Amino acid sequence: MAKQLEDRFRRRFYYLRLSVTDVCNFKCTYCLPDGYQPSGRKNSSFLSLPEIERVVRAFVECGTSKVRITGGEPSLRKDFTDIIHTVASTPGVEKVAVTTNGYRMANHVERWLQAGLTHINVSVDSLDPRMFHQITGQNRFNDVMAGIERALEIGGCQVKVNAVLMKGLNGQELPQFLHWVKDRPVQLRFIELMQTGEMDELFSQHHIAGTDIRAQLLRNGWVPKVRERTDGPAQVFVHPDYCGSVGLIMPYEKGFCQDCNRLRVSALGKLHLCLFGEQGVELRDLMQQDDQQDQLIERISRALDNKAETHFLHDGNTGITPHLASIGG
Ligand code: 5AD
Ligand code: SF4
Repeated sequence: MAKQLEDRFRRRFYYLRLSVTDVCNFKCTYCLPDGYQPSGRKNSSFLSLPEIERVVRAFVECGTSKVRITGGEPSLRKDFTDIIHTVASTPGVEKVAVTTNGYRMANHVERWLQAGLTHINVSVDSLDPRMFHQITGQNRFNDVMAGIERALEIGGCQVKVNAVLMKGLNGQELPQFLHWVKDRPVQLRFIELMQTGEMDELFSQHHIAGTDIRAQLLRNGWVPKVRERTDGPAQVFVHPDYCGSVGLIMPYEKGFCQDCNRLRVSALGKLHLCLFGEQGVELRDLMQQDDQQDQLIERISRALDNKAETHFLHDGNTGITPHLASIGG
């Protein structure tokens, strides 16, 4: 095995988030409020299957064991099942995850699982169909929920549900969400609203601090789960009366970046060391032939020398990230 990916702060990277498209068919208020706008760039096709295969193989060679396929909405790609299969059949990949808006799940999740998917994160911002529609711009609540139930029914994969709680919208729904996981083996992941480049008023109007959610959980008998070194940035809570659990993603919390264990590759083949604030390092020219693998690994490992200790969100600096669909969340 080539050398492990490690940065100047002794963080190890065994988790790759690979975006396979920027396109999305939802219009989440905090992400793509006006819907997906094609960039108009020429030659901007998204990574091909052979490119995906090579870049995943390079990462695995330096210690990556978990790959999350993200977007935009990854399942909009016609070859999505083949992508899962390609990633899952790379020797050394133990976990194959996807983050999806759930739009295609009810009909397709079975073949995704057959292709080797082991972890699914579905975004469900509200358990009220009208609020779901308002936040996502798509009247698809029932379809998304049917997809989740289908995945649970088939079994054999871990299901998590992502929600961004926002003041004045779905901010009062914590009790409903908790009730929903009472008897379901699902982890709820509350992601604190993050400010991105294209947001103006939205953040100040709707932001709810993750610490508020944490206080509510603690008041209601939820207890922090003992952290493991490989847990990554989420704080996980469990409750003796609940089958499901809760993970809090609090990017504004001190120490959030300390356990960073992930690197990102965009759908156009750039390496991003952090969600926020850099242009990315071009990798695509080294994904064209099998005999470039050593160079590819070398470039990834060099780039890590520039990974900063933390993001600068606290200073209101969102870097250049216009919205998270551009880099896969
Ligand atoms: N703040 C917090 N979460 C966000 N997501 C997208 N944009 C933002 C943002 N600005 C989340 C979505 C989805 C995941 C991929 O990223 O809710 O669950
Ligand atoms: Fe699409 Fe995800 Fe952005 Fe919503 S958050 S618009 S589902 S990419």
